[in-house]
Amino acid sequence: MTVKTPRAFYKPLAIGAPEPYRELPVKVERMIHFVPPHIEKVRAKVPELARQVDVVLGNLEDAIPADAKEAARAGFVEMVKATDFGATGVWTRINCLNSPWVLDDLATIVGEIGDKLDVIMLPKVEGPWDVHYLDQLLAQLEARHGVKKPILIHAILETAEGVKNVEAIATASPRMHGMSLGPADLAASRGMKTTRVGGGHPDYAVLADAAGTAPRVAFQQDLWHYTVGKMVDACLAAGIKAFYGPFGDFSDPAACEAQFRNAFLMGCAGAWSLHPTQIDIAKKVFSPDPKEVAFAKRILDAMPDGTGAVMIDGKMQDDATWKQAKVIYDLACQVAA
Ligand code: GLV
Ligand code: MG
Repeated sequence: MTVKTPRAFYKPLAIGAPEPYRELPVKVERMIHFVPPHIEKVRAKVPELARQVDVVLGNLEDAIPADAKEAARAGFVEMVKATDFGATGVWTRINCLNSPWVLDDLATIVGEIGDKLDVIMLPKVEGPWDVHYLDQLLAQLEARHGVKKPILIHAILETAEGVKNVEAIATASPRMHGMSLGPADLAASRGMKTTRVGGGHPDYAVLADAAGTAPRVAFQQDLWHYTVGKMVDACLAAGIKAFYGPFGDFSDPAACEAQFRNAFLMGCAGAWSLHPTQIDIAKKVFSPDPKEVAFAKRILDAMPDGTGAVMIDGKMQDDATWKQAKVIYDLACQVAA
């Protein structure tokens, strides 16, 4: 491999933090905010936007019309050159590897702004071979253009084949930054009978058994529970981050918040924001609740060396809950930093 492991670029958490959490990236990435860079009005707002979000992503793939692909690429280069992003992450979503645009996306972007780019989001990843290909291409382009800091890769998990190979994708390259669930493409790839971008479906529900004594209430289920769980395990075992992706119903912020919160509770670090209203939703959901943080601190204080068992408010705490508390407390420190 041609690059140092991304972990070499991550600052470790405090000495004594439990493995594997110690190796997780310190950078807070609660929302990856998508912008369509071919639209001048949108580009003009990016300097202000960069102060509000954790990551700005210039989208070159789906949702950018075929006849605007070149304009989006050029607009992204212009936007990155013109903006001081400070600590805010600079990402792009390139077109997929079998598209007519991807070679120009990579050659132009690495050549023009390779030193300012943190992460490339790679769509429709089917297996580790897609990551290997991008890894080598990036190594060539970085060498040609003297790019000093390796550009990381973030895979979108959005095909049935990709889900089957999720563990191999997570460990495919030291450049792997993380992975996002892509529920819209995944739904199509799996033959799901939906027409929506993420979120639930009113008919995906269970009904209380007719023989029971309880009222026959239908409970809607989370369509994405299985895939998020599988992705989180693959990513965290590989020491990279997992993200929920897009939520397309901008008219239903409560459902967006619920979907993001499920992902947060299950181990995701963030989600995509496709609309300005989703920035604050992601900020709220992916920053730990102050009450949870206060309780976590009580556990850490009650067990200074992280071992043993204590009772707090009638609940048993031990080494394992100390580790959970450390996850929440460390995240709170990162968000506050
Ligand atoms: C995102 O790209 C998705 O397909 O959901
Ligand atoms: Mg997609």
